Amino acid sequence: KKRVAVLISGSGSNLQALIEASRSPDYPAEIVLVLSNRPGVFGLERAAAAEIPSVVIPHGDYPSRAAFDAAMQSVLTQNDIDCICLAGFMRILTPSFTKAWEGRMLNIHPSLLPAFKGYDAIGQVLASSVSVTGASVHTVTSEVDAGDIVAQGAVRRDPDDTRESLTGRIHAVEHLLYPYALRSFLRGEASPPPAPALSGAVFSLNHRSR
Ligand code: GAR
Repeated sequence: KKRVAVLISGSGSNLQALIEASRSPDYPAEIVLVLSNRPGVFGLERAAAAEIPSVVIPHGDYPSRAAFDAAMQSVLTQNDIDCICLAGFMRILTPSFTKAWEGRMLNIHPSLLPAFKGYDAIGQVLASSVSVTGASVHTVTSEVDAGDIVAQGAVRRDPDDTRESLTGRIHAVEHLLYPYALRSFLRGEASPPPAPALSGAVFSLNHRSR
């Protein structure tokens, strides 16, 4: 199994989905490290409950993005990490960090990229007139939210959606999509999509992503 580190800044519900998927013996990844830039977040409790080591690296303790990324790099190297999953990790990474992990780092973003890149994608969707949105798993490059798309899931946007209702529907799709995308990515092959547990969720895998 590949040794995966999950980088978080908050609740860690996508971390939880990856932990649960990785418990299956034939899943190609093991979550061996959780790294948070914020102390006290719920994702750290999820890691502890799953007996996965976690490290907090508060970004405010470092004078620059480069120094913060170097601190992360040293923890990742010490832990023999093969692959990184960003899961609600809300820091922009330096080009030297993204270069070091090129082809070995995924991110999940709550929109159908390339639409609604960047900060508060769900707020951007709510302020727009789109009627379909979703979530994307993509490889990470130095340009924010612009790597190759590995897999996407679609979510309807209702006219009376609140932030909570739309976020809930997007999270439900993300929790199936991220384990699916990581598995497909690590195997370097297209794999059958997960059972359609959610009505209205459409998954597609980008076969050209590798
Ligand atoms: C997820 O919805 C993820 O797509 C989003 O943060 C949430 C984290 O939730 N990521 C971004 O907006 C990245 N720009 P979680 O902590 O419960 O997994």
